[in-house]
Amino acid sequence: MFETRVLSGMRPTGALHLGHYHGVLKNWVKLQSEHPCLFFVADWHALTTDYEKPRALQRVGNDMVIDWLAAGVDPSQATLFVQSLVPEHAELHLLLSMITPLGWLERVPTYKDQQEKLADRELSTYGFLGYPLLQAADIMIYRAKYVPVGEDQVPHIEFTRELARRFNHLYGREPGFEEKSRAAVKKLGSKKARLFNELRARFLENGDAEALKRAQALLEEQQNIPRGDRERLLGWLEGGGKKILVEAEALLTEASRLPGLDGQKMSKSYGNAIGLREDPDSVAKKIRTMPTDPARVKRADPGNPDKCPVWDMHQVYADEARKAWVRKGCTTAAIGCLECKQPVIDAVLAELAPIRERAQPYLDDPALVKNILADGCDNARKLAAETMRDVREAMGLSYT
Ligand code: TRP
Ligand code: SF4
Repeated sequence: MFETRVLSGMRPTGALHLGHYHGVLKNWVKLQSEHPCLFFVADWHALTTDYEKPRALQRVGNDMVIDWLAAGVDPSQATLFVQSLVPEHAELHLLLSMITPLGWLERVPTYKDQQEKLADRELSTYGFLGYPLLQAADIMIYRAKYVPVGEDQVPHIEFTRELARRFNHLYGREPGFEEKSRAAVKKLGSKKARLFNELRARFLENGDAEALKRAQALLEEQQNIPRGDRERLLGWLEGGGKKILVEAEALLTEASRLPGLDGQKMSKSYGNAIGLREDPDSVAKKIRTMPTDPARVKRADPGNPDKCPVWDMHQVYADEARKAWVRKGCTTAAIGCLECKQPVIDAVLAELAPIRERAQPYLDDPALVKNILADGCDNARKLAAETMRDVREAMGLSYT
């Protein structure tokens, strides 16, 4: 059912690492078995900042999809596609641009933040200002209800909701809306129609939120009424216009608990990351040489796990007994740091082995990923076209 669609996108910025795995990808893998999910390569979004070197994006995007598949994202459950291969996103973006006040875009906090952070690039562009608008189009074109994103993206989802409301307000009030809505209620059958009208009155007259929820649930259950009528009734229920575009919600992704090798957030740009498909020797070496409690200079010096990034990694991988072993061994200098790191190395390698293994067939045969994306794009375009048909109709742009 379209109401529970989940959508998320990722810009192709480089090889994914364990931080992505523990933060984002494990969450996607869980979601794909619970909802219809769409995951896409946001290559147009990457272009807003990397327009000077666009040629690398294709390869990086492709590798990123291999990382997704390697992490367990399953193309038989989720739809995987590339943004730029679904031009409907651009059409919706353009139409929404007509009703988007400049001030809304200028006020999005990521706009000035990113401009300052990427000061070496010229980002006073139309496309960069429109970044959140393109994201809003990505989301609304699939009528996605849930958008798994990190905290930094929440303002973009808020922006999307405001835009959905503005669109529905402007274009949901078709001629004869009132009559069409009354006719649609009748289609529920007399008993449900009476209940629906009663709940609507309770909400509109007394602001009864419970009544609103019950009426919405009642509509959800009606699988047989046409979507147009459902959109009409969802809007009419709240005293507004047809709900053509869905107000999405952020599904906050918990930050990965796995720190980078230096204890900071794991990030490629900090040089503290472990790649998802990194060679085991290189991974082991990185962990063996990662910093520990700086006060523990000699083997005989006792250490303090709370000041050590290795301890943070044990939090992710170790059981209670192991953690007790570390704490005791470290604070009494009974174990050395290399000894302490070994179980972390073992755990990380054990986690990465099946990931690397799952990636191999895609590396051996590039046609596999190509086909997955081609199928995903077909599917996405079908869904996007449905929304665009309704959007065009609502805006008086269906000339055929
Ligand atoms: N802006 C997102 C990020 O940087 C990527 C993105 C683009 C996205 N379009 C989206 C995320 C739509 C969720 C939904 O992480
Ligand atoms: Fe860190 Fe372990 Fe060394 Fe203690 S023993 S400082 S927790 S690596």
